[in-house]
Amino acid sequence: MWKYLVCSIFATTALAIWPLPVSYTNGSETLWIDRNVRISYNGGDESSDNTWTSKIVNNSIQRTYDTLFNKNFVPWKFHQRNSDFEPQLTSDATYITSIVLQQNGSDPDNVMKPDVGDVDESYTLSMSSSGEVVITALSSIGLSYGLTTFTQLFFKHTRAACAYTTLAPVEISDKPMFGWRGMNVDTARTFKPMADLYATIDAMAYNKMNRFHWHITDSQAWPLVIPSMPELADQGAYASFQQYSAADVQALQEYGALVGVEVVMEIDQPGHTAAIGYAYPDLIAAFNYQPWGYFAAETPAGTFKLNSTEVPAFLEKMFNDLLPRLAPLTSYFHLGGDEVNANASTQDETVRSNKTEVLQPLIQKFMDRNQHQLAAADFTPLVWEEMLLDWNLTLPLNTIVQTWISEQSVLKVVQQGYRALVGASSTWYLDCGHGDWVDHYQGADARQAYPYTDWCGPVHNWRQMYAYDPLEGIPDHLAHLVIGGETHIWSEQTDAMNMDTMLWPRTCAASEVLWSGAKDEQGRNRSQVLASPRLNEMRERLVARGIRAEPVQMPLCTMNGTQCVV
Ligand code: ACM
Repeated sequence: MWKYLVCSIFATTALAIWPLPVSYTNGSETLWIDRNVRISYNGGDESSDNTWTSKIVNNSIQRTYDTLFNKNFVPWKFHQRNSDFEPQLTSDATYITSIVLQQNGSDPDNVMKPDVGDVDESYTLSMSSSGEVVITALSSIGLSYGLTTFTQLFFKHTRAACAYTTLAPVEISDKPMFGWRGMNVDTARTFKPMADLYATIDAMAYNKMNRFHWHITDSQAWPLVIPSMPELADQGAYASFQQYSAADVQALQEYGALVGVEVVMEIDQPGHTAAIGYAYPDLIAAFNYQPWGYFAAETPAGTFKLNSTEVPAFLEKMFNDLLPRLAPLTSYFHLGGDEVNANASTQDETVRSNKTEVLQPLIQKFMDRNQHQLAAADFTPLVWEEMLLDWNLTLPLNTIVQTWISEQSVLKVVQQGYRALVGASSTWYLDCGHGDWVDHYQGADARQAYPYTDWCGPVHNWRQMYAYDPLEGIPDHLAHLVIGGETHIWSEQTDAMNMDTMLWPRTCAASEVLWSGAKDEQGRNRSQVLASPRLNEMRERLVARGIRAEPVQMPLCTMNGTQCVV
């Protein structure tokens, strides 16, 4: 085993699994794999019944072939300049002879919509020098993670029609550290076509991430079709071709469920709701009022009236339409609650105050109503941290509280006994550092606000994201309440054109923190020097999947070991 570890450190192509497995050994022998290789499941061929287990297993088998033979890459960047790095396919080459998937447990009935911890995501992978591969797991999702890892061992060959590895034999035993490994995508400020959402879920699954948080509506637009209230999207979306139909939502949920990525929808409220005002002006206070900076964090201003009888009736109807349609494929729903602006309620004729002692009980009542409707439909709620930490709401104890304002918020949430998600704006906000998106009047001082930086810059590069430890400052007895985290792409300046580049490969850094933990076996921050070659390779694997991930380093660095280490 020691011999293999030494090899893996000095081999030109290191074992490049991303995220890093809990334990692994590898060698340096070459094996080939061709399209005829058989992947068996529990002793038979592909499973043919119509259970979710079968669908997940069959889908991951098909994706494995597709990745190995259609979406693979030639690793020239990881070898010396102009070198002859490829193994020769000789007549005595050793091929992978079999890939055996062995599921040693049964999936829970809710494998397509699991709560955190319901599905055992662990797996083992063994690849012998003679070409036998065995992947074991307790769940279908564990098997699919094992297959994902397997594909990351192989490279495309420039001449041969088959793929190869130079890392045999391999032994891996793996499981995640955190149960919620998510990404939050804002499709309100700018619309994202369905194809881009599918591609994002695909890339997430390739990083063993498991929650797609869909921030689908906001003050700028309401692209979500509620069939019983068609005017909401007809008037609230930017354009009729920028709507998500009920069929779109269900299709994305199904696509995610097949790869272990649960789609968790958010309808942010009571703030961030101006777009409802296009169809329902009577429900929204301070709708598009100026100066917007006084009435909202972002233009346009607009927030639900907090003491109106029409707002609860609206919410009741909207959720009665939406929740039963989501329920087959998720039991989580995000109720929002960020950036409630007190001044907007001075323009709310049902309130006429911005005083905390007036607003707090009204926000409590507002959220209580939502919570009751969610609980009746068997959903687990999420809220942004302000609901607990700023407005001191009493929340059901199963509420997941999503922190974002400060890294210190995590401790405050778990100290109150709630489960927390990490992903503060100082670490895992992917939009930060691209500069201001508002224009500035240039008055007497032509350079007022120069150089037009944004509120959370500079850009959080992958190294910064990788250095963040979700458990920093959390006492051991509360660590179990930190269930994971999310990266966030707020989309004032991100649409389909730059989305991949904004997300990847930086989100990989968070995915490894969430899967493998931020610390190595010695309890030190994981080394970016060791991570960098693997991340460079993961970036190439994402590009081969059609994701326009930005480069990590120039080839000079990837070709020359530690030349770019300082
Ligand atoms: C947020 O960034 N307002 C959650």
